[in-house]
Amino acid sequence: MIETNKAEASKTEALRIAGLDCFHGAVQVLYRLDLVLNKGEVLCLFGRNGAGKTTTLKAIMGLVPASAGSIKLTGKELTGLPAHEVPKAGVAYVPQGRRLFAEMTVAENIEIGLMARGKGRAVRDNVLDLFPLLRQRLRQRSGTLSGGEQQMLAMARALCLEPEVLLLDEPTEGLMPSMIAKIRETVSKLRAMDVSTILVEQRVDAVLSVADRVCFIENGRNRETVDVEELRADPSAVRRYVGVG
Ligand SMILES: Nc1ncnc2c1ncn2[C@@H]1O[C@H](COP(=O)(O)OP(=O)(O)O)[C@@H](O)[C@H]1O
Ligand SMILES: [Mg+2]
Repeated sequence: MIETNKAEASKTEALRIAGLDCFHGAVQVLYRLDLVLNKGEVLCLFGRNGAGKTTTLKAIMGLVPASAGSIKLTGKELTGLPAHEVPKAGVAYVPQGRRLFAEMTVAENIEIGLMARGKGRAVRDNVLDLFPLLRQRLRQRSGTLSGGEQQMLAMARALCLEPEVLLLDEPTEGLMPSMIAKIRETVSKLRAMDVSTILVEQRVDAVLSVADRVCFIENGRNRETVDVEELRADPSAVRRYVGVG
């Protein structure tokens, strides 16, 4: 019976981080961090500047080494993989500040996304259906897109992997309200499509409307993970960790 339950539990997990320690140089930034992302959910990482949210995503991508602990993608260990292997394993990452190839066109950025896992036209069409605005701008150089459009392109490129797990680092940072709404809509659509997403956000309202659960990251530790309903009913937890709300 216990065995069956264990099997059930691991089936519904997309990603599991256990006891993760990370350093930037000599400075420890993550301390025994634990985190579980369930399949098909949007898990929000919430916390002050410098809490360790970006470092957590970089550790998943192999861009910052794990000095202790494990990061498992549906049971497959990611720590120790070279960074270029992590997207191939099925994790897509949209970094904070969305790094695109500015000189390249929208179409070329999308091609690069497709190449990482050898995806073709069908995937390209599905992704462009999610971002119709990009379809009209395929020949435009990505450096000349607006901030919101660049964010869409960065997400589109990531989705060209057909990832098991999507990591979004502050996707709405610095965008106009209308664009923020569009990005949030897209995250909700992806959730309906069963993509498992870790979303880093600093704004409470952004979190409450799209997340399933929220992790409070403080000083490199996951202090608490709560269901978003709980947070809607009692926003005091937000104040405790972020000092706003
Ligand atoms: N490349 C780096 N070199 C040295 N320290 C860094 C580097 N990146 C981040 N840090 C430090 O690590 C801590 C966590 O940063 P970060 O993960 O970016 O936090 P958050 O994304 O939550 O704002 C901060 O104290 C920050 O100054
Ligand atoms: Mg950050």
